[in-house]
Amino acid sequence: MLRNHAGLPPKPGDDEGERAAQTCCTASVSAAIVVGMRQEDVWDVETAQNYDTPGTGMFALEVLGPTVDRLAELANGGRALEFAIGTGRVAVPLAQRGVSVTGIELSRPMIDQLRTKADEATIPVIVGDMATTVAPGEFTLAYLVYNAISNLLTQAEQVACFRNAARHLRPGGRFVIELWVPELRKLPPGQHATVWQVEPGYIGLDTYDVLHQQVVSHHFRFDESRKARLDRSPHRYIWPAELDLMAQLAGFELESRHADWTGAEFTAESRSHVSIYRIPRRA
Ligand SMILES: C[S@@+](CC[C@H](N)C(=O)[O-])C[C@H]1O[C@@H](n2cnc3c(N)ncnc32)[C@H](O)[C@@H]1O
Repeated sequence: MLRNHAGLPPKPGDDEGERAAQTCCTASVSAAIVVGMRQEDVWDVETAQNYDTPGTGMFALEVLGPTVDRLAELANGGRALEFAIGTGRVAVPLAQRGVSVTGIELSRPMIDQLRTKADEATIPVIVGDMATTVAPGEFTLAYLVYNAISNLLTQAEQVACFRNAARHLRPGGRFVIELWVPELRKLPPGQHATVWQVEPGYIGLDTYDVLHQQVVSHHFRFDESRKARLDRSPHRYIWPAELDLMAQLAGFELESRHADWTGAEFTAESRSHVSIYRIPRRA
């Protein structure tokens, strides 16, 4: 299963991985890897079939509970639109709360997994790119969680995604983004990688290309043997201030930013954030 690092709690033992990162690859290697990877290839049948981990990781009740609580509250009785809905990790429990949820999603294999849990009448999904695809009707809430805005690899696409969210919302409607804070403060000159998670059987390592503002997440999984399995996913990282400017270009204002879904304070040390943008009501 492919995972990004934000939204996951820091794990003990990161020091070991930090040392490994210091000797890791160059920025040009990282950029070359991004060019060769398409989202359609990343979110394939194998990834989709292994994505769900009921009750653990990003599917743990302590992660999903506050997420769904907050989104249900923000929907405020109206319809919700999830960009990059995936296998319905959030959409399914949100719909079970009685919120009307529609999705936009690029990957058919991810939608096929969603369909094992909810039919088209319960959670309609439009196949397409969240930067451009239009879902019918008007919404009070659009949301894009688990770092998925970083799956759009150019600034132009990310701005288009904000504009697409705005297009779907009524005045006063909100767009919620959950996104990791890029670990740029951990990158002294000459270092191109950070290790964001080390635990038994798993190392998560990101290679940064700061010239092109790209990250490749590397997910190493291994057992007692010598061999390891590697999955990689390309991202364009966004500093919070740039995200706010994208929102502003699309007509949003920042309503709040917290470190998580429970409303913890966002600080200089926060590894992730939940940012809520709102379309101003007309005077
Ligand atoms: C990290 S998963 C998140 C899925 C789900 N939102 C969740 O929280 O579990 C990222 C999802 O983004 C989808 N995706 C990537 N690029 C996309 C695009 N341009 N338009 C729509 N979906 C996209 C992938 O297919 C994948 O399902």
